[in-house]
Amino acid sequence: MKDAADASQSFAVAQDAFLKTLAEKSNGGVLRGDYSRADAQYVVAQDWSAYTPSQHALWRRLYARQAALLPGRACQAFIDNLDRMQAADGIPDFVTTSKALLAATGWTLVAVPGLVPDQTFFEHLAARRFPVTVWLRAPEEFDYIVEPDVFHDFFGHVPLLFDPVFADHLEEYGKGGLKAMALGGLPFLARLYWYTIEFGLIDTSEGLRAYGAGILSSGGEITYCLSSPMPRRIPFDVARVMRTLYKIDSYQETYFVIRSFEQLFRDTAPDFTPLYARLQGLASLPADRLSEGECNIPIR
Ligand SMILES: [Fe+2]
Repeated sequence: MKDAADASQSFAVAQDAFLKTLAEKSNGGVLRGDYSRADAQYVVAQDWSAYTPSQHALWRRLYARQAALLPGRACQAFIDNLDRMQAADGIPDFVTTSKALLAATGWTLVAVPGLVPDQTFFEHLAARRFPVTVWLRAPEEFDYIVEPDVFHDFFGHVPLLFDPVFADHLEEYGKGGLKAMALGGLPFLARLYWYTIEFGLIDTSEGLRAYGAGILSSGGEITYCLSSPMPRRIPFDVARVMRTLYKIDSYQETYFVIRSFEQLFRDTAPDFTPLYARLQGLASLPADRLSEGECNIPIR
């Protein structure tokens, strides 16, 4: 019993420190989620019956607006897998989606109160569990939200979990994250996640398309990233991505373009230990300019 009490006390201390760090980073120092019922892996019950009719209605509006923007902008795998989520009619029940996902690629969804510590996040991914925030934004946040909510996490991330190559890649990313923690590689790996899983573009025979969840769940960036002359669009290169800074409160200044999920999987498969060591001696690169010899990929 004493061991259990010690473990629960040390979790409470670690959770407190994590929440304090997040609160310092967030606007106004207040986090939206209720972390008081989270277990040691930051998992909570989704409590699907507690969503109100107006929250389901807001979800339907978000879903319909975003789904209408996908043709010609989202990669085909995302569009093809959207219907498998069966989530157009209201905030989905994660248990139902998890059953379909488990059958398709062996992944499940876990409900979380919001952002979770890096290590916890990586442990979930490494075990093919994707953490999805339970709360939905307010109506006045229809176009923009600071912290990821259930719409971003679910609509943006879940469709590609049905894609076998992407699903394998995300598991490997989780394993790589746990390794990076011991190697001082976290800032580099965070940039890789940002510029691929969240804001990645893919070159296809039909033209550039988005596969990043941050783009695909955004009503504005989904058109901006593919048609604005402002941002740079350059070929994906692991070392270049890992050196590039990013901003979390504006549209991206640079997008990195992969040729296929196979390329992403292959290029991020090697052991990053020597790369982290090399990058630690190099300056970071700003996102608002090309490096010498780089060219923009033309918009098609
Ligand atoms: Fe995300």
